Amino acid sequence: MHVTSFINNGTSVSLIRLCLYAVAAALLLSDARLNAYSAPLQTDSSLQVLHWWTSDSERKAATLLANRLGDEGIAWRDAGIPGGAGIGAGKVLKSRVLAGNAPEVTQIIGISIREWDDLGFLLDLDKVSLANKWNASFFPTVQNLIQPRKHVVATPLGIHRINTLFYNRKIFAALKLNPPENWDELVATAAKLKAAGITPLAQSSEPWQVTALFENLILAESGPEYQRELFVKQSVPAALDHRLIDALERLRVMKTWMSNPVEERPWPEVVRQFSKHEAAMLIMGDWAKGELNGMGFATDDEFSCAAMPGTGKYHLYSVDTFSMFANDLTRVSAQEKLARLIATPAVQTDYNAIKGSVSVRRDADPSKMDSCARASWTTFAQGATVQAPSLVHRMATDESTRDAIIVLIHRYFTDDTVTAAQTQKRLAAIFHTFNINNHR
Ligand code: GAL
Repeated sequence: MHVTSFINNGTSVSLIRLCLYAVAAALLLSDARLNAYSAPLQTDSSLQVLHWWTSDSERKAATLLANRLGDEGIAWRDAGIPGGAGIGAGKVLKSRVLAGNAPEVTQIIGISIREWDDLGFLLDLDKVSLANKWNASFFPTVQNLIQPRKHVVATPLGIHRINTLFYNRKIFAALKLNPPENWDELVATAAKLKAAGITPLAQSSEPWQVTALFENLILAESGPEYQRELFVKQSVPAALDHRLIDALERLRVMKTWMSNPVEERPWPEVVRQFSKHEAAMLIMGDWAKGELNGMGFATDDEFSCAAMPGTGKYHLYSVDTFSMFANDLTRVSAQEKLARLIATPAVQTDYNAIKGSVSVRRDADPSKMDSCARASWTTFAQGATVQAPSLVHRMATDESTRDAIIVLIHRYFTDDTVTAAQTQKRLAAIFHTFNINNHR
């Protein structure tokens, strides 16, 4: 009852927001058209880019893009907004659009691309896509994301693997441990680490980071098909399945492997804890690899990657993408140049090596990648049956459903008096409400 009314309110607020965006979009477009008719078109060679890459390695990756864009005579005006998984950036973007001050380029990912596209804000990149044969060059999953309806409205940067387990090689060697491949091995490994006085797992209690661990457990327990039933279809029977309870219970078990209390920290701090040998394992998207490399820790020297135990065959993905706002005709040429540049083989190779992600291109060369990237790229290349769209990173569902699930899982994780059965019932109630709203 309580959950239902919360969601209903949330939904009507979202509707009002949508209407406001639509009005703002209309104003922006008519403004741009008026400008175009009243004066000869001057091109502007600078682009403001809004994104959420503010850690050291993320900044380095963004600087590489800025420099390559600079080589083409276009200035990158940086608008990096702190907040892992884009929590701050999403809010800033919405308020800027409402204020009629949209950036020319913005990091929008997954289902959010479709949401902004439906409101008519995004620049159509069909010309760039056709001229550069994007359809034949990118993985089909990537192509579907950048072309949610008829037109291509985003340019892809890289593919992150969310089901990555990092382990400290020195600690593992000293205790004669092998990287765990399934849940039972993970439990045994954690027990040995604990017995040796080492914190098994570095983790933050930030809501999105907790839910990322949970979605790893769902995938490990039940595979991509069930993961889609749950997070893409939001099926009530899937929510009521015993596999959900199992994953929730495992999340509580894992809590005993973390520093106590589990502090709410931004992800780069969690990576730092792992890098200082203060925890032996870390389960995080492979942007953590970019960060570790940037700190001077080479892959397969201090640390190595494996898949989250139980998910070796699968790829829980998040694809980074930029979209362009269609609010200023004088910038279109610069926007198209950036879109084209990002997807070129050379930029894909160099950018992804810093960022920790892998190329979106089917013609990339895995032999030139490090072991983490190679495993990620070759697994993703196997196609949709092994791929699972990340809930936390907006690949599976819309913003409101995602946010409601994150709140629920976070509450279960932080409050030990909340039971798995209560959480299951609440999730089923959320799905039920969203199902009704979506079919109205
Ligand atoms: C993801 C994004 C990554 C990284 C991560 C942590 O959503 O795909 O590029 O920035 O968030 O903030």
